[in-house]
Amino acid sequence: MKIGILSAGGDCPGINATIRGVGKSAILEYGMEVVGINNGFSGLLYNDYIELTEQKLSGILTLGGTILGTSREKPFKKSDTDLVEDKPNEIVQNYHDLGLSALVCIGGNGTQKTANLLSQRGLNVIGIPKTIDNDIYGTEQTFGFDSALTIATEAIDRLHTTANSHRRVMVIEIMGHHAGWLALYSGIASGGDVILIPEIPFDIKVVCKVLAQRAKKGKPYSIVVVAEGIQNPSKRSAASYISKEIMKRTGLETRETILGYIQRGGSPSATDRILSTQLGTYAAKLIHDNNFGQMVSVKDGAITHLPLEEVGGKLRLVPKDFPLIEQAKRIGTSFGDSL
Ligand code: F6P
Repeated sequence: MKIGILSAGGDCPGINATIRGVGKSAILEYGMEVVGINNGFSGLLYNDYIELTEQKLSGILTLGGTILGTSREKPFKKSDTDLVEDKPNEIVQNYHDLGLSALVCIGGNGTQKTANLLSQRGLNVIGIPKTIDNDIYGTEQTFGFDSALTIATEAIDRLHTTANSHRRVMVIEIMGHHAGWLALYSGIASGGDVILIPEIPFDIKVVCKVLAQRAKKGKPYSIVVVAEGIQNPSKRSAASYISKEIMKRTGLETRETILGYIQRGGSPSATDRILSTQLGTYAAKLIHDNNFGQMVSVKDGAITHLPLEEVGGKLRLVPKDFPLIEQAKRIGTSFGDSL
């Protein structure tokens, strides 16, 4: 049996650990042949691949990024610059020409959607959820999230000391796309005073009142953690919008930091290495069992799977009644929704 593995969409720590998990167990446990498809779905379109031997899979557990490269190629989305007329058809053809019996797609929401459409075209597909955003429907945790959380938390910790020295309000923008998971968790882990996430509509007047009250109480500085996806009527970044409003409305000296791609770079955390290994080896087992059209997932803390067609096109957002929000409010954290 020959299987293909690809990584698509934005990268994150843990992709190589996952490729290793799938590849090593496919080779060692099941005697399969493994092919790495380069640059996401582009590699399948243009026949760009490498053989993944046991040797090639060694030494990559701790490596950030993806040894296969990635791209945002969406074969089911037509664009004027397309070089190939019928991309889905080309991919199906190349999959067969390559002699693949299964394809493992490591990626976020867009990738799982494409994986499902390819599965509907008759390919044997397994999805593995990956993203720092933790927003994939059907799984409690995506690998990449824990590593990004560690990086973001450390960055916010560092802002505390410089904010204190200068008596400033620090606004830090955290990634997460349309979801607030990363901002919520890193904000709580680092003692943010205000946390703004897309799932909780905020009032800028409330945010400013909270900060003014803190200053009045003698608190020398404040930390405002902002998810990149918050409601933002300006054309500026979320951090820039919030920081300008705070400065204008309160007169407090305010600075902004956009953490950006630092959150996606570097070595995966221990938790992500373990999760990646669990998800990867589980994916190889699904292939061995001929159980296709599935996405590997975490449910009640255990590794399991669910049909890809249940995942595609849905987002996992922070529920309004998520217990962590209530707990944070009890220690005085503001979400900008009420005083
Ligand atoms: O999905 C991961 C993510 O880093 C999001 O948090 C962010 O909105 C997006 O990708 C950035 O995408 P790109 O790599 O295309 O700039």
